[in-house]
Amino acid sequence: MPPSSGEMRNEIQRVLFDEATIAARLDEMAAQISRDFLGCELTVVAVLNGSVMFGADLLRRLAMPLRLDCLSVSSYHGASSTGVVTFNQVRLPDVAGRHVLLLDDILDTGNTLHAIRDKLMKEAHPQAIKVCVLLRKDVPRARELEADYVGFDIPNEFVVGYGLDYMERFRNLPFIGVISSDAIARYSP
Ligand code: IMP
Ligand code: MG
Repeated sequence: MPPSSGEMRNEIQRVLFDEATIAARLDEMAAQISRDFLGCELTVVAVLNGSVMFGADLLRRLAMPLRLDCLSVSSYHGASSTGVVTFNQVRLPDVAGRHVLLLDDILDTGNTLHAIRDKLMKEAHPQAIKVCVLLRKDVPRARELEADYVGFDIPNEFVVGYGLDYMERFRNLPFIGVISSDAIARYSP
């Protein structure tokens, strides 16, 4: 019998970043982004679903006017990357001539952000695209991709919480942690 959502915390083996730590880092990131994009026509493109918490908390720290668009892609199944990135909507956001800040929860293999950046560049004609991720995993990238803004560097472990999921669970944990191997086995596809 799987435990109820009230017991999600018990399935976390180790907390990496608690709420206060995340909040403090977002303050720093927002200050840097505000300085860098001063006077720009900024459009934030948030990659669903993982960047929902991060985006909501980061954008509320930015004082300048901006547009927000969301993109839904599928690229990940379970705890390992498939490498294939599928766009789930027909139309791309209108970012022609604008400065884009592409937000995602985590830079892992780089496949997702590489594919999105490439497609936006080729088909949506922005002025420029910068990449902002909450987490950057210490793994060799399948695709060359440098993030311009990084919240935290993490080791090569599967993490959940604060928007990040394992099999669509754990997104609503307020902190980021490593799930137990028991939980990985319990919810594995
Ligand atoms: P990519 O491998 O850089 O393309 O990352 C693809 C997506 O995989 C990210 O946007 C996340 O949604 C997901 N992902 C990668 N690593 C993790 C992880 O440790 N926990 C949860 N999701 C992850
Ligand atoms: Mg995911």
